[in-house]
Amino acid sequence: MYRTHTCGELRISHTGQQVTLAGWIQTVRKFGSISFVDLRDRYGITQLLFGEELNAMLAEQPLGREFVVQAKGMVTERSDKNLRLPTGEIEIKILSFSVLNRSATPPFTIQDDTDGGDDLRMKYRYLDLRRNAVKKNLELRYAVNRAARNYLHGQGFMDIETPFLIKSTPEGARDFVVPSRMNAGQFYALPQSPQTFKQLLMVSGYDRYYQVVKCFRDEDLRADRQPEFTQIDCEMAFVEQEDILNMFESMIKYIFKEVKGIDYAEPVKRMTWEDAMWEYGIDKPDIRFEMKIANLKKPSYVFLNKDDNATVINDAGFKVFDEAETVVAIAVTGCAEYTRKQTDELTEWVKRPQIGMKGLVYIKCHADGSFKSSVDKFYNEEKLKAIAAATGAKQGDLVLILAGPEERTRKAVSELRLELAERLGFRKKEEFRLLWVLDFPLFEYAEEENLAGRWVARHHPFTAPKPDHIDAMINNNPLIENTVEYLSHPYANIKANAYDMVLNGNEIGGGSIRIFQRELQEKMFSALGMSEEESLNKFGFLLGAFEYGAPPHGGIAFGFDRLCAILGGSESIRDFIAFPKNNSGRDMMLDAPGSIDEKQLNELQIKLNLK
Ligand code: AMO
Repeated sequence: MYRTHTCGELRISHTGQQVTLAGWIQTVRKFGSISFVDLRDRYGITQLLFGEELNAMLAEQPLGREFVVQAKGMVTERSDKNLRLPTGEIEIKILSFSVLNRSATPPFTIQDDTDGGDDLRMKYRYLDLRRNAVKKNLELRYAVNRAARNYLHGQGFMDIETPFLIKSTPEGARDFVVPSRMNAGQFYALPQSPQTFKQLLMVSGYDRYYQVVKCFRDEDLRADRQPEFTQIDCEMAFVEQEDILNMFESMIKYIFKEVKGIDYAEPVKRMTWEDAMWEYGIDKPDIRFEMKIANLKKPSYVFLNKDDNATVINDAGFKVFDEAETVVAIAVTGCAEYTRKQTDELTEWVKRPQIGMKGLVYIKCHADGSFKSSVDKFYNEEKLKAIAAATGAKQGDLVLILAGPEERTRKAVSELRLELAERLGFRKKEEFRLLWVLDFPLFEYAEEENLAGRWVARHHPFTAPKPDHIDAMINNNPLIENTVEYLSHPYANIKANAYDMVLNGNEIGGGSIRIFQRELQEKMFSALGMSEEESLNKFGFLLGAFEYGAPPHGGIAFGFDRLCAILGGSESIRDFIAFPKNNSGRDMMLDAPGSIDEKQLNELQIKLNLK
């Protein structure tokens, strides 16, 4: 037997017992004729005491960091207790030990605060995974997985696996493709999600499906995106939007309770997409804090059907505002006394290319009731007061105003809002605020060069329009004459039965009620610019299935990695994936992707044509 106990198990009550432990050497500390050795495994650290006799053996056969050692000894009470360690009241007086395997000196220290940089840690991920900090993340991931499965099982959902080698139908992201040897010249694609399969399962009568499943998307990577990631993917038949919202709101609350011990008692707040864009400038607002956007100009943006005539900014001879499509502001709590240096720094911040604004206007609402602004020349005190009032600013607050083209300005103000909230400590890691964002637009205008001039599905092409928007979809020609016109095209205003779940400003899940009639699905494909031939070629199987009694259905998928990262208080999902890829999509440990040899290429009948 290699061990009788783990390194996290022994307590003062075990004193006097003879035990055998096995694990990795964390540290060796010599004190004259004796040595203390910390032995580590997945469960914790136990201190071993090597007395005089064994210490002499240690001198001959030194134990290096990360050696794998088996040690037999007696549990004894420690004179110098370390109450920060669960095992800190005892130590093992070693009677014998053996080295099960040696270790090269690790390239970084296996500690919470390691000296290893990102690339090094990824290259030696198997060592990085020994670190407590990473282990805790994987434990949390497993707890979320267990909780989700328990909940769904309890609700009668069935876990059904769906294939990974499927047909390429790029929509949204690019597909990863896999060449077929047996069908030379043909390719499988890896699924971006099991979307069509889960719909087919509904047609087959498995009315509550789920899967914790890998999805593959060849898209630009960010902290919250990996080329292969995991979804908690769910689908239900005979449901309306309300049923789905209730079912999965309860699931997330169950996970909160099981994993974090949080009772999230209140109903999850709901907001329409339009309100989210209008009040927060983004479709995934962080509602842990207020700082809502004040719209200082009537919107010219057709997606936002706001008749709010918030024309606080009148023509005042200040061209930047007068000529801007959009003027928006936020009130920043307690920052009226910002120095010139601080406001200059914020101005530079919004001018960075990622934000892309030309400048920033401020109004300081001083505690004595006076106002000072960078546009005093154009706006008198009364006007400044009106602008401040529109933002809800109180005495002592700083109003920040951005002006420019609609989409960019709205995005910029939402980023500025998050940045200031971060700086002011409003984005607390241990506070969790959920939000449903509802009524997304069904279509989005594709501005990418290769798609110019056509509509794409904002969620995916299987999403149903709101029932009273179906006519607008059927009766209008999707064609757009020129890119300027798309904003006033009737399609721009068609809303979908689609919903996202947002947690602390992150989209953690998204889904929709689906189209389940062949005719409407065909209409949707043609609205997206697909010919009949193309839609049959790509989705004939689904259209066919809809002819054999497809039930009404809908579903949702949660970004499992994202959910774990947020619950674990991290921005980066990589920390919660055992073997992640870096931002260029590389596995640093495997050094993948890599080339394949000539023989493999020949078998596949593929000739490379590298440019
Ligand atoms: P969607 O594309 O919105 O929906 O994906 C669902 C959730 O998956 C997460 N996610 C990602 N996480 C990590 N890396 C990525 N590259 C990545 N892309 C998405 C997000 C997102 O909310 N089939 C539909 C769901 C449905 O309609 O039922 C779908 O895949 O948290």
